[in-house]
Amino acid sequence: MRGGLLRWRSLWICGGALLALSAFVAALTWGAIFDSAFGSQLALIPDSRSFMRWLEPDVPIFFDIYMFNWTNPERFPEEKPNFEEIGPYRYQEHRRHVNISWHPENGTIGYRTLRSWVWDESSVGSQDDIITTIDVITASAIYQARFSGFIEQKLVSLTLTSSQHTKVSVTARASEFLFEGYEDPLLNLAKLMPASVRGGAPALDRFGWFFSRNNTDTDGYMEVTSGTRDGLPGQILRWNYQDHIPFYDGECSKLSGSAGEYIPRNLTEDSKLTMYVPDLCRTVNMEFVESGVQNGLKYNKYEVNERSFDNSSTSPENTCFCKGECAWGGVMNVSACRFGSPAFITLPHFLHGDPALLDQVTGMNPDPDKHSFYFAVEPKLGVPIDVAGRFQFNVYVEPSDHITLYENMPRMLFPVFWVEQKAKIDPKIISELRTVRGILDWGPTFCACFAVVIALLVTAITCCTKRTEYTRPHDLLKPYEKPKDEAEMKLNPI
Ligand SMILES: *[C@@H]1O[C@H](CO)[C@@H](O)[C@H](O)[C@H]1NC(C)=O
Ligand SMILES: *[C@@H]1O[C@H](CO)[C@@H](O)[C@H](O)[C@H]1NC(C)=O
Ligand SMILES: *[C@@H]1O[C@H](CO)[C@@H](O)[C@H](O)[C@H]1NC(C)=O
Ligand SMILES: *[C@@H]1O[C@H](CO)[C@@H](O)[C@H](O)[C@H]1NC(C)=O
Ligand SMILES: *[C@@H]1O[C@H](CO)[C@@H](O)[C@H](O)[C@H]1NC(C)=O
Ligand SMILES: *[C@@H]1O[C@H](CO)[C@@H](O)[C@H](O)[C@H]1NC(C)=O
Repeated sequence: MRGGLLRWRSLWICGGALLALSAFVAALTWGAIFDSAFGSQLALIPDSRSFMRWLEPDVPIFFDIYMFNWTNPERFPEEKPNFEEIGPYRYQEHRRHVNISWHPENGTIGYRTLRSWVWDESSVGSQDDIITTIDVITASAIYQARFSGFIEQKLVSLTLTSSQHTKVSVTARASEFLFEGYEDPLLNLAKLMPASVRGGAPALDRFGWFFSRNNTDTDGYMEVTSGTRDGLPGQILRWNYQDHIPFYDGECSKLSGSAGEYIPRNLTEDSKLTMYVPDLCRTVNMEFVESGVQNGLKYNKYEVNERSFDNSSTSPENTCFCKGECAWGGVMNVSACRFGSPAFITLPHFLHGDPALLDQVTGMNPDPDKHSFYFAVEPKLGVPIDVAGRFQFNVYVEPSDHITLYENMPRMLFPVFWVEQKAKIDPKIISELRTVRGILDWGPTFCACFAVVIALLVTAITCCTKRTEYTRPHDLLKPYEKPKDEAEMKLNPI
C-alpha cells in the first residue's frame, strides 16, 4: 500500500511539473502560438469564414463624390479659374469578388471584382445640379495630338471649331458627369477612328467619369496569395495576367502590396503599408502618422504623404514613375493607364502637393483632416478599423501653338472632382477585436500565473507528503520510543 501511494505521488508531481513547465513555455511563446492560430483563421480556403467575408464584404462603404464647379469660365484665362466644391454625391458601394479560380499548387487565388453603386439619400448634392468644368473630351483630343505634326494639329483644330467646340469648358448635370454620361460629337468621330488613335480606349457613345462602370469589373483580373502557405492572404501577385505593371520600368513596375483586404500583422511606427490601387495602376505606400484609441481599441494610423507620389526631389524611389515632364510634386500622371488621356491624380484640394498647383487656381482649401488618405489599423492583428481612400482627378492642359482653342492656355492642372471611399467597422466588431487583443496581451500573464500556482502546488504536495510519510507514523504510534528508534537506526549500520 505504501508503494502504491508513492507511485501516485510521483505521478502527480511529474504531471504537475510538466503542466507547470508547459504553461511556462506557453507564457514565453504566447505571441507565436497566438499568431499561428490567428493567421490560420485568415487563410482563404473554400467555405471558410474568412473566405465568405472576403467574397462579399459586409462592411458598408460610402462612395462620396465632390465635384468642382468652375464659376468663372468666361473670364478665362485672364482670371484664375475659381472652383466651388459641390456635394457630396453619395453612393453606397457594394463589392463582390467573382469568377474565383483556386490554385492550390502555388497557394494563390484569382478573381475579378464587381462594384456597384446605389444612390444614397443622404447626399448633399442633387443629381440635377448644373455644373461647369473643363471639357475633358476636347482636352484629351488636344493632349493626344500634342506630339503630332503641324498638319495633324491643324486638322484637330479645324475639327474642334467645326463641331462647335469653341469653349474650353462644358456644362452638364451632375448625374451626366458621373454615371449617366453625356453626348459629344467628338465621341462619334472617335468611334470611326481605329482604336490606336483612341489610345486603345473602347468606343463609347457617351462620356461620364463613371459611365459603364456600374456592375462591371474595371479593376481587372487579380491573382493574390491565398494564405494557405506561410504568409498573409490577399497580397497581389498578378494583375491582368501579368506579374508586373506594364506602364512603368524598374522598381516602379513591381507588383506588390495588399489588394486592400488583408494587412500585415505586428505593425510598428516604422512599418509602411503597401497597397495596390488598380484605379491608379500602381502601388501606394502609406507611412505612420499617429496612434490613438477608438472605442477602447488602440490603432496606428498610416497616411499617404508628401513622399508617396511623384516628386523626384523628395523621394528618389518615385523617379521611375515619372515618364513625362513631372513638373509638380504630389501629382501622379496616370495617363498611361487611362488610354493616354490627360488624367492626373492628386490628393483632394492638392493636399501635400506643389504650391504652384494651388497658385494657379482659387477655391482650393487643403485640410489634412478632410483630405488625407489613411488607414487606421489595429497594429498587432493588422485589422483595419477606419479607412478613408481619397483622390482627386485633374485634367492636365498646356498651351498649343497650332490649336486655336488652346493658344492662350496656361500649363496647369484643372481639378474636376474628388472621391472619398470611407469604411468604418462596426462597434460590435471593435469589441470583438478588443477581446482578441486581450487574449493576446493577457495570455502570457495568465499562463505564467498558472505555471506558478501549479509549481507551488507541486512543491506543497512534495513537502507535505514527505512529512506525513516519514514523521507521522513515529509521532502518532510510538511517540516515546522515538529516541530509541533513532538510536537503533544510527547504530544499525555499524
Ligand atoms: C508577430 O509577433 C510575434 C511575437 O510577438 C511573432 O511570434 C509572430 O510570428 C509575428 N507575426 C508575424 C506575422 O510577423
Ligand atoms: C455652378 O456655377 C454656375 C455659375 O456660377 C452656377 O450658375 C450654378 O448654379 C453652379 N451650380 C451649382 C450646383 O451650384
Ligand atoms: C465570369 O465567368 C463567366 C463564365 O466563365 C463569364 O461569362 C463572365 O463574363 C465572367 N465574369 C467576369 C466579370 O469576367
Ligand atoms: C499559379 O498557378 C496557376 C495555374 O497553374 C497559374 O495560372 C498562375 O499564373 C500561377 N501563379 C503564380 C503567381 O505563379
Ligand atoms: C447600378 O446598378 C444597380 C443595379 O444593379 C442600380 O440599382 C443602381 O441604381 C445603379 N447605380 C447607378 C449609379 O446607376
Ligand atoms: C504622362 O505619362 C505619359 C506616359 O506614362 C507620358 O507619355 C506623358 O508625356 C506624361 N505627361 C506629362 C504631362 O508629363
